[in-house]
Amino acid sequence: MRRGQVVLVVALAALAAAALFFLLPDTAYPWIRALHIIAVIAWMAGLLYLPRLFVYHAEAGVGTPQAETFKVMERRLLRYIMEPASAVVWIAGLWLAWRVFGFMGGWLHAKLVLVVLLTGLHGYLSAAARRFADDRNEKPARHWRVVNEIPTLLMVGIVILAVVKPF
Ligand code: HEM
Repeated sequence: MRRGQVVLVVALAALAAAALFFLLPDTAYPWIRALHIIAVIAWMAGLLYLPRLFVYHAEAGVGTPQAETFKVMERRLLRYIMEPASAVVWIAGLWLAWRVFGFMGGWLHAKLVLVVLLTGLHGYLSAAARRFADDRNEKPARHWRVVNEIPTLLMVGIVILAVVKPF
């Protein structure tokens, strides 16, 4: 496919998505919710796996072949899985919050607080990956083992708020 054709296909897909988003909210709702959940699964996989990689990376000596392999794995996980997935989670989640709930509900506000914390954790891990890439990590493996538990705790709270809507 030539570049012009790719641009045309992407533009048509964007137009169709925009039509679904703004003109057909009833049809779009289950699809956007499905998209939201799919992206959540991909984002969470990365948020759980990246600190686990940091545990092994912190234990490998600087400049070893293992450490260089971990750098590639961490960069690719962030760039190709976590960054696109987090963008889709946010766009689809904000659409649902706006079109379906009008940004109302205690559960939604509490969920947003936890999701902002989860996004902050993403930023922290992203900065840590840059430090690992430059051989500047100073945190021990034990630190990354503890950090590894945070996304699990936040995810449990977020899913209970989204599904049970206790308040
Ligand atoms: C980024 C900001 C986010 C916003 C604004 C948002 C908002 C929403 C909204 C409004 C719904 C629809 C609830 C319904 O239709 O009953 C929803 C569904 C859901 N969200 Fe999110 N969400 C976000 C991020 C997340 C994250 C990070 C997770 C998990 C870690 C998550 C997990 C879920 C689940 C499991 C559902 C399905 C609930 C159901 O269908 O019963 N969301 N979200």
